[in-house]
Amino acid sequence: MADKQFALPARGKISPVELSKKAPKKADALVIGIYYDKDAPEIAENAWLSGGPANDVREGLQAVKATGKANEITRLPAPKKVGAGAVVAVGLGSKDKLDDEVLRRAAGTVSRSLKDLDSVAVALSDDRERLGAVVEGLIMGGYAYPGIRGNKDDGVDAPEEKKNKADKDPAEFTVLGDPKKDEDVFRIAQVGAESVCLARDFVNVPSSHKFPESYASFIRGFAEDAGLKVEVLDEKQLEKEGFGGILAVGQGSVRPPRLVRLHHSPRKAKKKVALVGKGITFDTGGISLKPGAGMGDMIMDMGGSAAVVAATIAAAKLNIGVEITTTVPLAENMPSGNAIRPGDVITHYGGITSEILNTDAEGRIVLADAIVRASEDKPDYLVETATLTGHQMLALGKKTFGVMGSDELRDRIAELGRGVGEKAWAMALLEEHEEAIKTPAADIRNISEDRWGGMQFAGTYLSQFVGEGIEWAHLDIAGPAWASSASGYTAQRATGVPVRTLVAWLNELAN
Ligand code: BES
Ligand code: ZN
Ligand code: ZN
Repeated sequence: MADKQFALPARGKISPVELSKKAPKKADALVIGIYYDKDAPEIAENAWLSGGPANDVREGLQAVKATGKANEITRLPAPKKVGAGAVVAVGLGSKDKLDDEVLRRAAGTVSRSLKDLDSVAVALSDDRERLGAVVEGLIMGGYAYPGIRGNKDDGVDAPEEKKNKADKDPAEFTVLGDPKKDEDVFRIAQVGAESVCLARDFVNVPSSHKFPESYASFIRGFAEDAGLKVEVLDEKQLEKEGFGGILAVGQGSVRPPRLVRLHHSPRKAKKKVALVGKGITFDTGGISLKPGAGMGDMIMDMGGSAAVVAATIAAAKLNIGVEITTTVPLAENMPSGNAIRPGDVITHYGGITSEILNTDAEGRIVLADAIVRASEDKPDYLVETATLTGHQMLALGKKTFGVMGSDELRDRIAELGRGVGEKAWAMALLEEHEEAIKTPAADIRNISEDRWGGMQFAGTYLSQFVGEGIEWAHLDIAGPAWASSASGYTAQRATGVPVRTLVAWLNELAN
């Protein structure tokens, strides 16, 4: 029987972006960058605003006391001879501190601030090296999750003040660039940023609409459209093959678990990569129930799976020359008469047994099975990411993810993350946890007796399941996967971290 199909209940809209050497003849606005200077802001050099009109804009900016501080937005009426209704200046901070991330954030702020416009020309930088950052910022910054709305007609007939703002199509951007020469850079930036938005769409869905079966169906739809091979194991197949960890976490819910596998097999692959991501579609904690406050945010506990799926889709669209198999275990962690109990011993896929002393440490339980399965394919590298521990936020804050694993790969991924503006920090696994993981009741236990270094303990737990000789990395994204407010190119709610880090790494492997 064919699987039931489900569609995403809501998606954030994405701004169309194109490159042009020539300034469009008519746009609602021309966007320029301005640097901070203590006397008066300086216009960042660009081919679309110079000479007399640039002088007029400079005067206008001084008159309204624009400063050029990072992400400051100033709207001015455009001088004659500029083919746009308005000039919008975005602050870039000090000229000597300009980097990709400054531009990405400025472009993101522009995109979020100009939602009322339809066509916008963007001349933020003449530097071709920085074009990708501008394109990424515009696409990611314009994304906003629209929510699931009852009265769809509100968008058309309702009085202006009642209209759902998210219903307006976002602005179309024409960016200063060379459509031929810059095609590759442009395409990588666009596909990467759109994949971030897809991951956000997955994560933003509430768990009323997102459970293992429906989520597997969302994934299948997008993955097949991108040309990936898709395999979905249902609860019967999981039982048959002995996926004891995924089944144990899933057994408390009436909505049974799934295991989804995606395959990207380009013709000339240099390396073989396994990606794995945590896909808990809702985490109540199970019998070790979480406190009520903030529990609603646990719709995001599948952020790791969303990121690896979106990165794999990006790899397919960009035809990245690396063989990728992506494995995502999907389960809903619920307390019920059929749920696992603290003290239970379960047998993982592959045979290792775990004593479950806290049912809220469920991510590592489903990931263990998935990591063993992924290791069977004998990849060169295994990279796994998960909203795994509250301890990640205690250690590194809400915006920096922790990277653990094999020394070289761990350090490289942390560095690449910082390079693309997804803050990351390498964390060493701890010797004391090799003892702490032992238990008289089973091969290993799923929590340690004390709470110190809880992020690293989870890393040590996962390390037990990685196949021999495979270089691996574990990215704990508990904080960075979700944002309570929008800023720069980061949307409120799901952020799509670490999709761009993964895509950057895959691109690097292929080159
Ligand atoms: N999904 C949570 C981790 C989490 C917390 C993600 C907050 C995002 C925001 C995870 O399953 C969990 O509950 N971990 C426990 C582990 C503990 C019981 C050892 C934690 O971190 O408290
Ligand atoms: Zn949990
Ligand atoms: Zn969890």
